[in-house]
Amino acid sequence: MNNLDNKKILLIICGGIAAYKSLELIRLLKKDGVSIKTILTKSGAEFVTPLSIASLSQSKVYQDLFSIENEAEMDHISLSRWADLILIAPATANTISKLANGISDDLASTVALASNKKIFIAPAMNIRMWEHKSTKQNIAKLKDYNYELIGPEIGDMACGEYGEGKMSEPKEIINKLKIYFKNLKIKNKLKAIVTAGPTKEYIDPVRYISNKSSGKQGYEIAKSLSKKGFETTLISGPTNLEINNGINLIRVETAEEMFQSTLKSLPADVAIFSAAVCDYKAKETSKIKIKKQDEINLELEKNVDILDYVSNHNSLRPKLVVGFAAETNDLENYANKKLSEKNCDWIVANDVSNESIGFDSDFNEVSIFYKDKKVDRLKYKSKSQISDELVEKIIDHLN
Ligand code: CTP
Repeated sequence: MNNLDNKKILLIICGGIAAYKSLELIRLLKKDGVSIKTILTKSGAEFVTPLSIASLSQSKVYQDLFSIENEAEMDHISLSRWADLILIAPATANTISKLANGISDDLASTVALASNKKIFIAPAMNIRMWEHKSTKQNIAKLKDYNYELIGPEIGDMACGEYGEGKMSEPKEIINKLKIYFKNLKIKNKLKAIVTAGPTKEYIDPVRYISNKSSGKQGYEIAKSLSKKGFETTLISGPTNLEINNGINLIRVETAEEMFQSTLKSLPADVAIFSAAVCDYKAKETSKIKIKKQDEINLELEKNVDILDYVSNHNSLRPKLVVGFAAETNDLENYANKKLSEKNCDWIVANDVSNESIGFDSDFNEVSIFYKDKKVDRLKYKSKSQISDELVEKIIDHLN
């Protein structure tokens, strides 16, 4: 998998013979699907032309700190905000010294100082400059400021000397960036829990109370979450459905088992309670099959409300808690009531009086009710599409 695809990189090219390698760097980054904006310093422009950079990067080249045309957009701020990462290649001894000492007298150094992003530097200079105590001290400072160093390498220099100071090859720089984005992804992997399907509440070993839920919507939500990179746990009541390997599936039967599995799966960043948990269970479950009688009194007691418990828990509550409501009438009223009574962030509600949607159907039509009284209506479409749209909203919310 290409960890650079769709990434945005701000490349700062400083003055040095190695600047010619930046053109190859741009070409390879573009090939990997990266969007590039470039800042070319005054001395960088002595080695490569803005025209060649613009042609390769297919984007404007920024050069001036004070430009009437650009400053309306506050380039020294907006360029860094736009980027996922800043790469300075080649980074000269002069620029390194400026960054280490907070000097901001051109666009490149001002952007770096105003940046809120990770900055990589690929130094390129003569060996004596690289080994100079002042450069060593500046590099130590930059590391302390959380800059990441790539290279330099040992080899023949353009000046004819040999030693450490050569800029790393573009392929090597790109590898380092890929590793960075890969690790970031692993670190940032969000966790999601989905409950789905009905529960079975046993009266005796062969009889139970249950409901018509197929679990289809919950399974589709788990698939959409997993597709978007969430580490997903699906806690499912009895269904006939299959799920792909990437999803951690926990099969349960009763509400109590679903409750215990949910607790074990927390903490999570998102929890979606789409299960149709039986509200009641038999007060006593007979260990043996109950024999026919003229009359039987079945005493029921309330099951634990999993959503309510998690949503009101001080430490276990995920950042986003989504409940479901299946209603035959007064949808909006009941959905809003559930939203506040169960302390959830969103309620996804559907009208189950319409037989072409809901329960066993592959299609659904839902409304998402939010705390601020806003409502989003997802019109009649497949449960898979509803799930994708719901997960897009979840991602927007978490961002
Ligand atoms: N829920 C739960 N645990 C329960 C009952 C419900 O987690 N024991 C969750 C469901 O997964 C769903 C929401 O709560 O997200 C549904 O709310 P609920 O009030 O149970 O809906 P209904 O059973 O339809 O209730 P009512 O008949 O009162 O409308």
